[in-house]
Amino acid sequence: MSSTDNTAEVSDTPDEGRRDFIHLLASGTAAAAVVGIAIPVVHQMNPAADVRALATKEVSLAGVEIGQAIKVMWQGKPVFIRRLTDAEIARAEALSGQLKDDASRNDNVPDMPADAAGRLVGPDGQAQDFVMVLGVCTHLGCVPLGTEPGENKGDYGGWFCPCHGSHYDPFGRIIKGPAPENLAVPPLQFVTETTVRLG
Ligand code: FES
Repeated sequence: MSSTDNTAEVSDTPDEGRRDFIHLLASGTAAAAVVGIAIPVVHQMNPAADVRALATKEVSLAGVEIGQAIKVMWQGKPVFIRRLTDAEIARAEALSGQLKDDASRNDNVPDMPADAAGRLVGPDGQAQDFVMVLGVCTHLGCVPLGTEPGENKGDYGGWFCPCHGSHYDPFGRIIKGPAPENLAVPPLQFVTETTVRLG
């Protein structure tokens, strides 16, 4: 090997080392950047306890007698809770041949028809006589009447949306008017005989 070659060999080695160093430095910086990005993303995928708490709500039903109704707010939306009388249940059962929407709209018991089994809820082993629905009309999102004492319950004794005249029955099913779907049943679970958790 000539001295020129030797010079070239000697001068190449530090360059390669320097390139390796730069390469490693760049890789390390990139890795740090990735970690710096990944941590916030992972953090965002673990919602804080207060956010999770807002997603659910426990409601006491201890004071809701048969024939009474209450309205609560959950995730910024009204939820209508009504405990039906035997007459209201019988009246709704008799309307099952007039439904505009056959789906239960109840994610707690998916793929059920919109009958009593698909719409009514209650604690395990107790009467399933509560109807709990989002108070959001499925036409354009108005809040139907019929929960507060003295409010118009519509032609079928459930809820009435005066915005464009949608009538829901005591199971919260659309019978007449422009609304296309039954009132949705929110995700819920009885955690005691008198407490229901929404969400
Ligand atoms: S929003 Fe209820 S009928 Fe139109």
